[in-house]
Amino acid sequence: MSKIHHSFKEDIIKGLTSFPKSLPSKYIYDKNGDKLFQEIMAMPEYYLTNAEFEILDQHKTRICSEFAKDGDFDLIELGAGDGKKTKILLKELIKNDFEFHYLPIDISQNVLMELKETISKEIPEVDIETKQGTYFNVLTELDEYRHRKKVILFLGSNIGNLLHENAIKFLKAIRNNMHQHDMLFIGFDQKKNPQTILDAYDDKAGITERFNKNLLLRINDTFDANFDLDHFLHWETYNPESGTAMSYLVSKIHQAVEIKKLSMKVEFKAWETIHVEISQKYNEEVINWLADQSGLKVHSSYTDEKSFFKNYIFTKA
Ligand SMILES: C[S@@+](CC[C@H](N)C(=O)[O-])C[C@H]1O[C@@H](n2cnc3c(N)ncnc32)[C@H](O)[C@@H]1O
Repeated sequence: MSKIHHSFKEDIIKGLTSFPKSLPSKYIYDKNGDKLFQEIMAMPEYYLTNAEFEILDQHKTRICSEFAKDGDFDLIELGAGDGKKTKILLKELIKNDFEFHYLPIDISQNVLMELKETISKEIPEVDIETKQGTYFNVLTELDEYRHRKKVILFLGSNIGNLLHENAIKFLKAIRNNMHQHDMLFIGFDQKKNPQTILDAYDDKAGITERFNKNLLLRINDTFDANFDLDHFLHWETYNPESGTAMSYLVSKIHQAVEIKKLSMKVEFKAWETIHVEISQKYNEEVINWLADQSGLKVHSSYTDEKSFFKNYIFTKA
């Protein structure tokens, strides 16, 4: 049994026997989940991708020369996905003949295979090695990359999937694997009109709903379960005070679901929830606080025209 299959099993047991129920969003990403996320990125409501794309495109020269200013480096990307935006930086680095080795890490083997294939077609000069795993597990293996400068990318506001407490733990773990010249480049989605944020996670076409429900579909396929997707609805909330968007799957009826391979029967009361995802939104004060708590300092930051999104380069404090 693979490490990820094992942790999927453990997380289902823990999440569906707890009150309130929850399931981690990282398991949404398989072949179907990856495709649905690509559809999300193409939705007009999902401003995050375009905003970060604009930042990287506008500031690529400065960002890449910061990355490469000390010579050769390892470019390590956490949760790389399809690399749509990373490719802007990869092209710029290649254009300038900067020497680097690209190591995208993702929980989805499918997306890594697609990424490797598209990079070999579009930017064949890139020296790429993919690694499947979760952020936390792979972090401990970063020691191997200590022989030269590391630049760690964490794009797409993936950090927003972590509550502040876990984000600090995570940033501290990265920081402890960083040397003096290493850099951490993170994208943070910013607080903005609450309606804009709600719309990004609650599109009219129902793509986000299908994306979140892929978690149930995956449990059906992997563990021989009988979740009926029509008996759940997708519900999004956004708290403009805390900056936290939450995605839930809500049981429309009183029902029992059987997960045969885990020998489980899970009872849902009518309107009972499964918490699936958190997407935290930030402002400058919160980002400075996170950095401070984690032993990092801001080196530089970049934003888009509407100030919807912000990318930061951090170094060790
Ligand atoms: C929201 S997508 C963003 C992809 C890309 N960074 C971007 O900005 O377009 C999140 C990606 O991170 C991966 N992922 C999510 N949780 C993860 C985890 N805990 N460990 C490793 N990869 C994870 C998913 O498979 C997916 O490819």
